[in-house]
Amino acid sequence: MAFLKIQRLVLAAALSLTAWILLGQTDFVPQQTGWHIRTYKYTPSSFDWANRTQSHPVDEASMTRLPAGDPRPLPPIQHQFTSEELSESHNNTQRERRNAVRRAALRSWRAYRDHAWGRDEVTPQTLVGRDTFAGWGATLVDALDTLWIMGLKQDFRDAVEHVAAIDWDKATSEACSLFETNIRYLGGLLSAYDLSGERVLLDKAVELGDMLHAGFDTPNNMPANGFHFAQAKAGKLVASLNEASAAAGTLSLEFTHLSQLTGDPKYYHAIDGVKRALERTQDSTNLPGMWPVFIDLQSSFFTPGTSFSLGASSDSAYEYLSKMHALLGGLDPAYEKLHTKAMATAAQHLLFRPMLPPSSPPTTDILFSGTVLSNGKIIELIPEVQHLGCFAGGMFALGGRLFHNASHIAIGEQLARGCAWAYTAFPTGVMPELSSIIPCNTTTQCTWNETAYQTATTAHGTPHRPPPPPFTAVLSPGYFLRPEAAESLFVLYRVTGKADLLEAAWGMFQAVEKATRTRRAYSAIADVGVEGETGRVDSMESFWIAETLKYFYLIFSEPELISLDEYVFNTEAHPFRLPKPGVKQ
Ligand SMILES: *[C@@H]1O[C@H](CO)[C@@H](O)[C@H](O)[C@H]1NC(C)=O
Ligand SMILES: *[C@@H]1O[C@H](CO)[C@@H](O)[C@H](O)[C@H]1NC(C)=O
Ligand SMILES: *[C@@H]1O[C@H](CO)[C@@H](O)[C@H](O)[C@H]1NC(C)=O
Ligand SMILES: *[C@@H]1O[C@H](CO)[C@@H](O)[C@H](O)[C@H]1NC(C)=O
Ligand SMILES: *[C@@H]1O[C@H](CO)[C@@H](O)[C@H](O)[C@H]1NC(C)=O
Repeated sequence: MAFLKIQRLVLAAALSLTAWILLGQTDFVPQQTGWHIRTYKYTPSSFDWANRTQSHPVDEASMTRLPAGDPRPLPPIQHQFTSEELSESHNNTQRERRNAVRRAALRSWRAYRDHAWGRDEVTPQTLVGRDTFAGWGATLVDALDTLWIMGLKQDFRDAVEHVAAIDWDKATSEACSLFETNIRYLGGLLSAYDLSGERVLLDKAVELGDMLHAGFDTPNNMPANGFHFAQAKAGKLVASLNEASAAAGTLSLEFTHLSQLTGDPKYYHAIDGVKRALERTQDSTNLPGMWPVFIDLQSSFFTPGTSFSLGASSDSAYEYLSKMHALLGGLDPAYEKLHTKAMATAAQHLLFRPMLPPSSPPTTDILFSGTVLSNGKIIELIPEVQHLGCFAGGMFALGGRLFHNASHIAIGEQLARGCAWAYTAFPTGVMPELSSIIPCNTTTQCTWNETAYQTATTAHGTPHRPPPPPFTAVLSPGYFLRPEAAESLFVLYRVTGKADLLEAAWGMFQAVEKATRTRRAYSAIADVGVEGETGRVDSMESFWIAETLKYFYLIFSEPELISLDEYVFNTEAHPFRLPKPGVKQ
């Protein structure tokens, strides 16, 4: 992740019983049968956002609808695994690895279940509940699809029973983040619905979608990320003058999927306005092709900013461009153009090869994505390595497949391997949140320059501990259980079929498991440079089960489990089912 009513079909008891038996017998059921199973009592929220009077309504006639036509066949995304490749890489070794990941997920889930049920998070050391995302049970909703995929069906059922009674009108805070609520809660519900067909999940998604849709009820219909409940009810929200581009660009998949599942175009219409603003501004920013990290949404998408990155606060705005192309079955050409131009600019200006010590194997062919400062004339690369930016490998590879650009698949692999390498460079085997390193002058080669290394290291002042070469500084030494590096290894493995990526992922999982394990769960750590108990931070965010452990589990599973040819992942690792080619929405 990054930085953010329907009629009821009551099935005959016998039918739903049969469905549950069928569902319970397999490890995963990727088929949505068209049966809407209802086994839970649905309790509607106490406020109906769908019936709120809008301050800035869109009239029915001018509403943008989902693109008409039959979804096109997309190019194959996954590597065509041969039976030899499958039997070699999916033998007992992978099964044991996948079970180790499942055990980690189960420990984490049980700690949450036993000590924080219904709260947003469990604190992994002190084992109490904490509300960090409005108190609707962030970990519970975020974990639903992981539980399903891992075959933890009883845990899934217990969680759905709780979800069926969530009241979005009972929040523990006055406001929530539109972005976070969208990716964790709405994304979690939609994906769990796609996988299980359980109707109550869609009912709750619609309630929540109706609430979040009020985030677009602003004077210019741009989204207000600071979703203040009372102001939203009164229709007084205003978009921010200085908003993270990710907050604007990371609503599209979820809103589109909600329109696909309900047939109601209002969600899709809302995010299509953001797309048009992205199109309108793409060529006229200070780094044409990309958008600044922060955007003035209040002045209708004004983009004077000078900082550009694929990391914090802008990441998933880029991630969603190619994914929207896929979710719309290739029917909106705008997303391909947006993606292609953005990636060409990123490849030219943001990506760099790090200067590596002479001891590194000459085959270490890696790239990182940095930050660029540009005023339109002078372009300067800041060679910072963000853990959040590690998703970019997967993004380049997916786009490379969707839009037939082999060099982008190669770039994706170099980026994914870059983050995997960075993990191994630190004492715990885990990469820090933010570090810096020396860029080579070209993306193809360079040799170690000790003078340059010493100069750059000194320039960062005197840290309490020198950074491990070749890093010149560790600017934020923690690891917060983040998924992005595992995510890119997963995508690259599925796309290329290269078996050594499984070994890299296993090394990464073991290091993370060891460095973050607590008595009952797993916790963020304060410093990846220090081994042992000392540096624990008492936090286990919902993305640990939702994303990190899901990607590790999937990479060690058969490639058909949540195939990238059938699903597209939202930025919180929630798989949404892609439309079937030729089948009308
Ligand atoms: C909105 O309210 C009206 C009357 O109060 C009701 O008939 C209608 O079903 C409500 N719509 C939704 C979507 O709940
Ligand atoms: C089993 O998988 C491991 C890890 O991918 C691989 O190294 C090994 O060769 C495989 N064993 C067999 C018998 O295929
Ligand atoms: C792949 O993308 C690059 C921009 O990064 C572009 O220069 C190149 O022409 C593209 N290749 C193909 C085959 O489209
Ligand atoms: C890049 O080129 C500059 C100027 O020639 C040189 O000072 C610097 O050391 C080079 N950097 C690397 C990593 O080779
Ligand atoms: C090594 O780096 C120093 C300082 O950046 C630079 O002056 C020098 O030219 C570099 N040497 C080479 C061979 O690039």
